[in-house]
Amino acid sequence: MELQKPRGTRDFLFEEMKERKLVENTMRKVFETYGYQEIKTPIFEDLSLFTLKSGEGIIEEIYHFQDKGGRDLALRPELTAPVARLYLNQLQKAPKPIKMYYFGSCFRYERPQAGRFRQFWQLGCELIGGKSPDCEAEIIAMAANCLEELKLEDYNIHLGNLGILRGILSQNGVSSDQQDQIMALIDKGDVEGLEILLEELQLSPESREILLKLVGMQGHYELIAQVKEMINDYPDALASLEELEELLIMLEAFGFTAYTVDLGIARGLDYYTGTVFEIYVEGLGAQKQISGGGTYNLIEIFGGEKVESTGFAFGFDRVMEALKIQENIKSNKKNVEVFVAPISTDMKLNAFKIAQDLRKNSISTDVELVGRKLKKVLSFADNLGANFVVLVGARELEEDKVTLKDMESGDQEQVPIETVVEILQSRLKDL
Ligand code: HAM
Repeated sequence: MELQKPRGTRDFLFEEMKERKLVENTMRKVFETYGYQEIKTPIFEDLSLFTLKSGEGIIEEIYHFQDKGGRDLALRPELTAPVARLYLNQLQKAPKPIKMYYFGSCFRYERPQAGRFRQFWQLGCELIGGKSPDCEAEIIAMAANCLEELKLEDYNIHLGNLGILRGILSQNGVSSDQQDQIMALIDKGDVEGLEILLEELQLSPESREILLKLVGMQGHYELIAQVKEMINDYPDALASLEELEELLIMLEAFGFTAYTVDLGIARGLDYYTGTVFEIYVEGLGAQKQISGGGTYNLIEIFGGEKVESTGFAFGFDRVMEALKIQENIKSNKKNVEVFVAPISTDMKLNAFKIAQDLRKNSISTDVELVGRKLKKVLSFADNLGANFVVLVGARELEEDKVTLKDMESGDQEQVPIETVVEILQSRLKDL
């Protein structure tokens, strides 16, 4: 029987894990620079947490199961609902705003393809109890900051406000559930389906025309004035447009103006209420969306008080892919700094002692564990990317010395055993 990993999942080997760790740490640092603190929630939750208001698409994709106690559980498809639950359980009385970030795997039963997996990772944040558009501007600037720190080029941040489309629909008497259906079609880019549904819902011809036009509109700040004229007769939609305008002005203060206003963003999840944004990297093809987020009302839906919440999540795997295609990933083959090897078997215990001493002094060290001969030791150490090899021979040890080999230059010297740590620390620092 050949053992296979489940469809849509991946194994990550050493080098890839190093690259992922580096990117993860860079992004974590940015989140922490903006005052976010890390949280962790369970990988599985009650199924109902995700069926309440996560949107049709997500519900269809949920991995759910019954445990031995007959409880309906689900592997989390995303982290906003778990964080809203955590807030309701433990943080309602905490001083606001609360800034939380997370890094964890999510599960969606989707058709696997490039950039679309059944297990994938999200690095994201939720800001609970802030004020729009102030917190939205800060969050968007932070998302851009992360990508700058990673030196990712050719990304586009698209911004919109769902209140514009929803305002027009509400004024036409379209119910909130029907609006969710419309948003799902817009999110999928299904123009034909959208036209059919709008026809069925008997929207006024004027509203229908405006709506279809808005969905295709993209531009910069100037777009606002143009749209204002179009939706003058829809007060709620106009108020949302003004919110969007305020956000754009604020973004300038946060030092970020490279956005695209995009009124066709609908998001695949149903809990968003106002500002929404998505980040695209065109080079990724069909799965070009590396991040998505916005302002939502999930806490209220879960029975809590009305508290403004904004957040977003990077699809970590897609960020990695984007960095790879732009060749922005630094390959790091290094496993250890030092390799210690006995020249003969009777020196083995001395080699172990030296290795432990180096490790205690925070020098990453590997030691010969399979009894290789010298020549093979050196090529193995080279493969590990070790900068130095410490060779422990009987003759040198009689004089309390070991041989230190610099793997880069090939130079070899005998050094007193009590100075090995100090010498290595100083040389490694200079690298
Ligand atoms: P989302 O857009 O569904 O939003 O997912 C966020 C990101 O996860 C996407 O932009 C995409 O890069 C990545 N992603 C989604 N599905 C997959 C998949 N099957 N394989 C690989 N990557 C994937 C959310 O999940 C919201 N909770 C974001 C949020 C946080 N909104 C407010 N706060």
